[in-house]
Amino acid sequence: METKKVILSGIQPSGSLTLGNYLGAIKNWIKLQDQYECYFCIVDLHAITVKQEPKDLRSKTLEVLSIYLACGIDPEKNALFIQSHVPAHSEASWLLTCSSYMGELSRMTQFKDKSQSQGESIPAGLFIYPVLMAADILLYQTDLVPVGQDQKQHLELARNLAERFNNTYSPTFKVPDPYIPKEGAKIMDLQEPTKKMSKSSDNPNSFILILDPPEVIRKKISRSVTDSIGIVNYSDDQPGIKNLINIVCAIRGITQEEVVDMFKGKGYSEFKSYVAEVIIEELTPIQEKVKELISNKAYLEEIYKKGAEKANYVARKTLRKMQKKIGFIQ
Ligand code: TYM
Repeated sequence: METKKVILSGIQPSGSLTLGNYLGAIKNWIKLQDQYECYFCIVDLHAITVKQEPKDLRSKTLEVLSIYLACGIDPEKNALFIQSHVPAHSEASWLLTCSSYMGELSRMTQFKDKSQSQGESIPAGLFIYPVLMAADILLYQTDLVPVGQDQKQHLELARNLAERFNNTYSPTFKVPDPYIPKEGAKIMDLQEPTKKMSKSSDNPNSFILILDPPEVIRKKISRSVTDSIGIVNYSDDQPGIKNLINIVCAIRGITQEEVVDMFKGKGYSEFKSYVAEVIIEELTPIQEKVKELISNKAYLEEIYKKGAEKANYVARKTLRKMQKKIGFIQ
């Protein structure tokens, strides 16, 4: 029997998931789950690099799992697990930290962005964060990592750390490739369309949440920032409109030209109504399933326990290899 190639990806339960998380990550996982052996985790260890309210962290972790399931990830075929349930992630992260350089970690743009507002008290976890992400990936001998554009640099670091370890000791890790979708790779902020849409933004009008009700989606899209050109065009001079076109393309699987053609001679308000309905049509069935799943704690527990069992087995095996090569007595 031919063994399937391996996929791993994860999302932080640090807030409510956005349309960016859905189109940049989850929607592609669904497409890939039949061809690959997949590990999808909820990265709670990553979430605590910034302050979290324990009660919220618990509820968001289960919400993210419900969203994975509601979007169509099959728990029979894939391992769905919570990162902190697999201690090998933290241990491997330390081992990799010892072969990481301050210089390469300082160059991570996400670290630079996130640490900017923290003054003198930048949490060290924010700095080490990409090494933990590398551990997540390398422990499973992952071939492919489906993520949005913003994670590309972190993935490059994971590749470098894998190669460095392999060269220092002997071949231990597969060197993973990124999988970044053509459409949906970078959904932009609705208020400042030159910035990535992010769940950590202070202005709720700048993002759409997977669980936003239809009337909220209509309001947020109608208030989204456009321009004074007034023609639906796919152009860098119209970043707001370009972003809305990208959203439609990523959801519907159609081309930018098709969207532009549909709105020849029509105004922004008609276009925005269309965009809102496309999003609502995509998200409503997911929201209904989340509502059912979230109250079924026993079912969710069954899934994350089974996922952790499988993940622990694979991750521990790689961790043991690392420890042995480093020279630890086993
Ligand atoms: P996180 O939680 O910030 O985002 C989860 C996934 O969503 C994608 N994404 C977007 N895609 C398109 N447009 C956007 N506006 C947008 N915002 C977010 C992200 O690229 C990501 O794929 N460090 C990671 C989580 C992580 C991980 C891993 C990912 C930890 N370990 C191992 C892959 C493999 C993060 O913070 O993603």
